[in-house]
Order: sequence, then C-alpha cells, then structure tokens
Amino acid sequence: MNTAAAVASAPGALPLLGHGLRLVRDPLAFLSSLPAHGDLVRVGLGPHRVVMVCDPQLTRQVLLDTATFDKGGPLYDRLGELLGRGLATCPAGEHRRLRRLSQPSFQPDRMAVYAGAMSDLAAGLADSWEHGQVVDVARESNRLTTRILVRAMFSASADERLHEHMIDDVETVVRCVFRRSIAPEPVNRIPTRANRRYERALSRMRGHLGDVIAARRADPADHGDLLSALLRAGESAGPDADPALTEQEIADQVMTFFVAGTKSTASTLAWALHLLATHPREQARIQDEADRAPATGWAPTAGRAPGASPPALPEAEQVITETLRLYPPGWLLTRQVTRDTTLGATPIAAGTTVAFSPWILHRRPDLYPDPDRFVPGRWATGQTRGAYIPFGAGARQCIGGRFAVTEMALALTHIASRWQLVPAGRAPRVAAEAALVPQGLRLRVLARDPARRDPAGRA
Ligand code: HEM
Repeated sequence: MNTAAAVASAPGALPLLGHGLRLVRDPLAFLSSLPAHGDLVRVGLGPHRVVMVCDPQLTRQVLLDTATFDKGGPLYDRLGELLGRGLATCPAGEHRRLRRLSQPSFQPDRMAVYAGAMSDLAAGLADSWEHGQVVDVARESNRLTTRILVRAMFSASADERLHEHMIDDVETVVRCVFRRSIAPEPVNRIPTRANRRYERALSRMRGHLGDVIAARRADPADHGDLLSALLRAGESAGPDADPALTEQEIADQVMTFFVAGTKSTASTLAWALHLLATHPREQARIQDEADRAPATGWAPTAGRAPGASPPALPEAEQVITETLRLYPPGWLLTRQVTRDTTLGATPIAAGTTVAFSPWILHRRPDLYPDPDRFVPGRWATGQTRGAYIPFGAGARQCIGGRFAVTEMALALTHIASRWQLVPAGRAPRVAAEAALVPQGLRLRVLARDPARRDPAGRA
C-alpha cells in the first residue's frame, strides 16, 4: 500500500526541514493554507513526513478509531519522554485500565470539592490586583491554574517557591516540546543551552513531584484529592477489579495531570481575558452575569455548603467555548497508523503518521460563519458541535475538560465582578508551542467598585 502516491504534498517543503521553518515562524497561517490542497495533505514536520487531515469527518474517524490511529508520531513520541506511559501518552492497549482507574477523580462529587478550591483561589487572584495595575495575564493565569492543580491534586497549598519553580519548569518543557518534535532526533541530544534547560526543568519537576508522592505514601489517610484517588485506585479487590497502579504509573499519571492540566487551561484563560478586553460589549455581559451570581461568582468557603455545586454561568461558559474555538491549546496532534486502512477513499499504510488540527477545523468558514470573529453568542443559538474538538473526541477525549471549564468560568466571573479589563500595549503574538500561548499580553485592570480606586481615582 502506498500512501504517498495518493496524497498531495503541501508546497514549499525544504530538504530535511520539511515545512518546519514555516511551522515555527507562522504555524497558524501555514495550517490555514492546507485545506485548499485537499482533505488530506502531505506535510513535513521537520524531517517527519505526516498526512494532515483537514476534513471534519475524516478527523472524527481518526479520533474514534483509537486502535487503528494510536497515540504516536513525533509529538507524542516527544511527549512520551516527558509524561512516560501516563493516560495521555499510553498506547491504546493500556488505555482502558488507566482511564478506569483515573475516572473516579473526575466524578461530579469530586468536581464539586475542587470547585470550592477553584473559587477561593480565583477570588484570591482577583483580590490581589490593584486599580490601574498592568497585569502580565499569561503569568497570572499560569499562577492560578498551577495553584488550583496543586490544591486539587495534593490538597496542599504547597509553598510559593514550589509554585514558581513548577510554573517556570512547565513553561520550559511545554515551550520546548513542540520544537523538539519537529527537530531531527539527533539535534535533541546535542547539549545546546535549550536542550540542557529542558533536561534540567524536566528532572526538577520529576524530583518535586516524586517527593510529594513519597511523602504521601508515608501517610496513608485519604485526603480526598487526585493523588489519594490515584494511590487508592484499584484497592477495592474483586474478581473484575483492575490491578492497582504501579509506582511508575503513579509518577507518570501525576506528571501527566500536572502538565496537561495547567498550561492549556492557563493559555485559554489568558486568551479569554484578552478577548473580553478587546470586546467591551461581551465584557459587559460577563460583568452582568457576575453581578447576578451569588456572592461574586460563588460564596466564599465560610458560607458554602460542603460539596455544593458551583452556580451555572452560561455567559462565561459561552466565552470559554468560543475562546477554545479560536485558540484551541492542542492545535496540532499526531497519531500513528497501526494497520493498513483507508481514510475516506484514500489508502493509508500501516506506519504512516497522521496529524490533525482543531485550529484548522475551528477556522473553516463552511463550518463557522465569520470564523475569525469572536462571537460567544453563536453557542447560544445552536452552533453545531460536530467539528468542535478542543478537547478531542472518543475514548481519548480530555478527562479534565469539565475541570478546566469550571475553573475558567469561576475565574472569569471573579475577575469580571471586580475589574474592567483594558488592553495595555500591543496585541499579543500567538506563540505556537505545545499550546497556543498569548505572548506579551498585558491588560490594565480598572476597579469597578469606586471604593477600590485610590482616593484621587488615578489609573
Ligand atoms: C482548556 C483546557 C484543556 C484543553 C483544551 C485540553 C485538551 C485536551 C485534548 C485535545 C486532549 C486529547 C488529545 C488527543 O486526542 O491527542 C486532552 C487529553 C487529556 N487531557 Fe486535557 N485539556 C485541558 C485541560 C485538562 C485538565 C485540566 C486536565 C487534568 C486535570 C487534563 C488532562 C488530560 C488528560 C489526562 C488527557 C488524556 C486523556 C486520555 O487519553 O484518556 N486536561 N486534553
């Protein structure tokens, strides 16, 4: 079977580098140009030849047939070095058991507990700003999502230096992993400054997380957090029970939740704040909803019934849904084909690497009228979700989607209840790393409550 003969190549590939330079310099413009060449297009991710799927139905086929289109390809090969054989990177044959053992941590009763912590931490962030301050939004969002994950995973607030280290280290590895996936393999082993920084960040993260796991092993109480759920997973013996997670599996899962659960949520939250700042009418709608929500987003811990569900925040959720359409953090994902198959009518040989991109589908004008415009209201009026895949689809769909949407909705609500957001400086640049990051995003925050302003009311 010969895939190459059946699929057109995107123009402009360079020997060895493929389309790597265009992918590094302006990846989104490059991706947007691909559907014009067909539903399937051959692309060079650096030295790796991949078949890019540009059609929504074929993308669904790839996502749903996890045995034929298994995790693999340059991105997942590099992510595997980082995350081991955790839930996001393990092959299909190991996935069902890991997912079953992880799922209890994301049940609605657990989510209600996490939501309490999310609301408190989001309120703390919003209260830490001052009238007129120019906020480094990506950094603040990273701080918030890291604190939330540490609290949900380890039920600890951890010391502030640990947070800062973890933010920097996740930042470094997420920034590097995409470039490493399109570089020729030997280049990743050269001890360049970037490669050494990556190795150092990775080993520090492993060390920190390993210490936390070891400390918890010495304390068998159920802390009601993600780590307790992982350590106890499979304990309830029975004929059909899954074997418990091994030490290595627990370490891989913790690393997976940490990396998957912080940066993508932080980037989305930062983009959402940018979009609100540049669309004042949408910002006013969120502020109205925040003002109507009980006790600015959600009652503080003292007044909240334990396990109470967070309030419905439909306007905030529409903003998040639309932000994820425009800036899906997982913008380019890969799969490895395990047996000869077809995509539509095109033969695809075993061993082929296939890639797909939520960015490509989410910006197609035939699927989304006026695709580049920020219109949260399109989700109130029955926009179809068939081609909407910021969290993937099928068995490998994001396990933390509800977790992420809840924390972002609560954060937007707390921020909108207190602040008017105004752009400060130039529009951010889209940095396409393993997530889509708004680089250089600065917003000025103006207090909505006159009592929060300084006496002279100066900005
Ligand atoms: C805005 C935030 C998020 C986005 C856009 C996002 C996106 C995604 C996507 C697209 C996938 C599927 C990847 C593929 O099919 O190759 C995925 C998987 C995954 N995500 Fe998320 N994610 C987010 C937040 C989170 C959070 C908060 C957590 C954990 C607390 C998390 C944990 C995971 C895990 C463990 C997987 C692998 C699931 C499996 O294979 O069974 N994610 N995510």
